[in-house]
Amino acid sequence: MRSAAGTRSADPMALDVRGALREGMARLRAAQVPSSTLAAELLLMHAIGRDRTWLYTNSEAMLDLAASEKYFALVARRAAGEPTQYLTGKQEFWGLEFEVTPAVLIPRPETEHIIEVALERLGPRGIKIDMVTGAPSPRLRIADVGTGSGCLAVALAHELPHAEIFATDISAAALEVARRNAARRGVSDRIHFIETNLLEAVIHESQVTGHEPRLFDLIVSNPPYVARNEAATLPREVRDHEPHAALFGGPTGVEIYSRLIEQAGSLLREGGVLVLELGHNAADEVRRMFHVQPGWVNVSITNDLAGIPRVLAAEHRV
Ligand SMILES: C[S@@+](CC[C@H](N)C(=O)[O-])C[C@H]1O[C@@H](n2cnc3c(N)ncnc32)[C@H](O)[C@@H]1O
Repeated sequence: MRSAAGTRSADPMALDVRGALREGMARLRAAQVPSSTLAAELLLMHAIGRDRTWLYTNSEAMLDLAASEKYFALVARRAAGEPTQYLTGKQEFWGLEFEVTPAVLIPRPETEHIIEVALERLGPRGIKIDMVTGAPSPRLRIADVGTGSGCLAVALAHELPHAEIFATDISAAALEVARRNAARRGVSDRIHFIETNLLEAVIHESQVTGHEPRLFDLIVSNPPYVARNEAATLPREVRDHEPHAALFGGPTGVEIYSRLIEQAGSLLREGGVLVLELGHNAADEVRRMFHVQPGWVNVSITNDLAGIPRVLAAEHRV
């Protein structure tokens, strides 16, 4: 029998860890899977329930048949395009491990810039205890719009123990995953998960009750921002496997920003901050929206590590 790599594939019953890794890498490389070495390692770690250190200190350990079959089944699915994270069910974000399923976008490292910028903009408000008086800081009210796996809401709850967070998503299935991630990190009691279109339910609540709208100190969002006609340019892992509601923001990709900026303008308190992830080439257009809509000052753009404008932050003056 020959493997997808064109080499003789070893009998899966008689493979040790090193041999299984080599064979897995070869099959993934032949299928042009990016980062094939890392993917083969992660899938083997998942299949046998061991960490990387164990793999490399036990490279001659023999795999039993069940483990071997499980591993090569995962390799085949990865070779066919399924993202590694959906196969292992996890992804790290902000140093925390998150459950991911095909109902949620896989958190990206560049999205961590939202947390960095948000913490920087909050300044002393982000510290739980006033450093001078020792008094507890006022409770922070935060919204995360389009929470997906909950990575931003949970990371912010983790960083800001005095924050109460409202995490919204249009997808009930995504909110289920986010709720589990919050529970795993022990922050469920400070995050309210709401199924709604952007922040509509939060605005509606104040209209119905006649109460003051909930006023937020911070609103963050990594909205869907890919243009519909860009679908063909996405890697197959993304286009064929990640939820389309998490990817596509409308015909041009920027439609969602203006609605979000308008809603944020009505919900942020004086000095409150909006922090948004930016789509490809969207920085100029999104920045212009802040000039058109009233009340926005201190608009800044932060590049990601690749030098691409990635995060826009703006402060609201009532
Ligand atoms: C790009 S993903 C971001 C997920 C997560 N915050 C992250 O950074 O990994 C966008 C999320 O917004 C949700 N979404 C799309 N349109 C929405 C809308 N109109 N209102 C609320 N959520 C929306 C999607 O279901 C998806 O979970």
